Amino acid sequence: MLKIKGNYFILETEHVSMVVRAVEERTEYLYFGEKFADYSGLELMHAEGNAPWNAPLSLFSQWGKTDFREPSFLVRFADGSCACDFRLKSAKIVKRDFADGLPRPYGEEKCLRLEFTDAPSKLKLTLTYTPYADSDAFCVAASLFNGGKKSVVLENFASAQLEVWGRDFDFTTFDGTWACERTKHKRALAYGKFENASYTGSSSAFHNPFVMLSREGEAYGVNLVYSGNHREIAETDDSGRTRLIAGINPFCFNWELGAGETFYAPEAVLVYGKTEEDVSVRMHRFVNRHIVRGKWSKKERPILVNNWEGTYFDFNEKKILDIAKKGAEVGAELFVLDDGWFGKRDSDTCSLGDWFDYTEKTGGLDKLADKIRALGLSFGIWVEPEMISEDSELYRKHPDYAMKVPRREPTRMRNQLMINLADPQVQGFVFRAVSKVITQCRAAYVKWDYNRHMTDCFDKNTRGGEYYHRYILGLYSVLQKLTERFPNVLFESCASGGARFDLGMLCYMPQTWTSDNTDARDRITIQSGTAYAYPQSTMGAHVSASPNHQTGNSNPLETRFRVACGGLLGYESDLTKCSGEELSAIKNQIAFYKKHRAVIQYGQYYRLGDSFGGDWSGFISVAEGGAKAVSVVAVPVKRTGASNYRARFKGLDAKTVYRVSLREPSGIMKEICVAGGDLLNKGGVNLDGIFSETNPREVSYPLYTRMFVFEKFVKDKAEKKAK
Ligand code: GLA
Repeated sequence: MLKIKGNYFILETEHVSMVVRAVEERTEYLYFGEKFADYSGLELMHAEGNAPWNAPLSLFSQWGKTDFREPSFLVRFADGSCACDFRLKSAKIVKRDFADGLPRPYGEEKCLRLEFTDAPSKLKLTLTYTPYADSDAFCVAASLFNGGKKSVVLENFASAQLEVWGRDFDFTTFDGTWACERTKHKRALAYGKFENASYTGSSSAFHNPFVMLSREGEAYGVNLVYSGNHREIAETDDSGRTRLIAGINPFCFNWELGAGETFYAPEAVLVYGKTEEDVSVRMHRFVNRHIVRGKWSKKERPILVNNWEGTYFDFNEKKILDIAKKGAEVGAELFVLDDGWFGKRDSDTCSLGDWFDYTEKTGGLDKLADKIRALGLSFGIWVEPEMISEDSELYRKHPDYAMKVPRREPTRMRNQLMINLADPQVQGFVFRAVSKVITQCRAAYVKWDYNRHMTDCFDKNTRGGEYYHRYILGLYSVLQKLTERFPNVLFESCASGGARFDLGMLCYMPQTWTSDNTDARDRITIQSGTAYAYPQSTMGAHVSASPNHQTGNSNPLETRFRVACGGLLGYESDLTKCSGEELSAIKNQIAFYKKHRAVIQYGQYYRLGDSFGGDWSGFISVAEGGAKAVSVVAVPVKRTGASNYRARFKGLDAKTVYRVSLREPSGIMKEICVAGGDLLNKGGVNLDGIFSETNPREVSYPLYTRMFVFEKFVKDKAEKKAK
């Protein structure tokens, strides 16, 4: 709901209110929190003055007046000055309408549009706020129009600013590197600023754009619909406020805005909740309902078999067909041919850019795809189109397509260079090359990889400070065209595992490969961190071989499976090497997953425990309405003596009586009791037995797990009659 009531702008979702107030030509956040039943008395919350120490909570901040904190934007004028004084000129409820090539949330038509002008320069700042009623999210879109006669330079232009009273907040970020992405880090804000940012050209494995500010009783989550360099700054001030700014990282950003031009910042998502968990629940709803789009949104995702860890580059047609055949036998639905099928790609030193069939290996890609389809599987393929190998036909013909600075030796990562997607000609090449691959093998699925960071940014037609953002705009333009041309294809984004897990990519690709690290114990932490902002339906989670290829640790097949049930199931190993016993276990797992897939992929996710910070961890995924749920709990250490592990569940319907079943290591489901949702949520289950399932001698890095299924208990007629 959106309402303008005098000087108040009221935005409402199912549980949250945001009230913005206009005071003469200024605006302030008057309130952002739990929904009001009635809005009388808003004046009680007015801030008193306009001096730096008692200024109200601002929607944006400019340089040149008396606000001496980090500004949300900075404009440099032709004369070298940068003072601005933007004043509110209009406030209207209008239709959402953007024509800027950025990915945006969908599903709400209306927004509050606030227009501010800086009279001397004729710059116009537009902020639009869209409430997403069914997910309690508020999106902010900022743009700047240059109505003057001369160009100006944007040195910084953030997407959103949020200010709250109080400075006793914790700031939570999700950081890591390759193979340990999005590990949760929470710290108390101290005096000064804390920065969470990416400098790699993409959203990065180092620091995800999703952050939270929280304290007892309130939590705010902020994310960006963006895949490039981002920065989130949390700053406390001497007057008892905390400011949070989120947007494109101003480092190496410098955008010339010509007369008559508009710059659009990526959209930001603001979510309020009483707890971190509320924020997480609301973020999930928002992503499932307003970010992921197209044919695959809200649709059950296929169980795949991927050959990467099974073969690496060393395969031929027979090997692939043998693996696929085993996959079909155990009930998988999609076979993904990973890296190595193109050019002369026998190692990671060559052929990126040569997106044509390596027939000696594949025996003919189209024929191979047909044979896989004949097994009853759909066919998917791996590409890494943003890259180029120097040892490739493409590079020999078009060295100009590579991203490098003239007369400088480029930096190679994984032996490869990046392609210059800021150049429309190169964008055209990528679109045509990928379209040809998809058409040739009639792919139902594409894994779009990105295996290095951006360095040596240069394009002869692009201003240096605009490069990073123009690259991302180039990428979005290609993805837009591809997803329009191939609406039925399921795209999965990947970046050396999960180095580009963000809302921008999810607007084009419904799922993301969470991490190259498939070690069950590490995956618990990675998936638990990722799931703060991103739902299970977006997280690729595969069962791979043991010992694990990344960590060398071993864990039983059943443990690996249970952990993979935190997301989109796949198998990533050489299935031809599995024993008959293992294959029948996998068959059982796949049948189980199919039976419970809807709730595993789309149920409401609640975190149990807190990764391993609190000794044990887990999740429960509850179907809408609460009729069914699946839960996995995990304990990493077996303590001698007293064990007091107890899992209290969440989200089960208090009034529903559930039949509770435990999945045994053999895959057999054992009904353990009938219990009320209320009791299960409040009392929970004792996990003493958890240690008996895994023999610690069989594992090098133990993870003790239990998997529960809760189904609404309906007494059958005979039972009722007997009573
Ligand atoms: C990346 C991906 C892997 C695999 C390889 C192939 O590392 O994350 O899943 O596709 O590339 O080279």
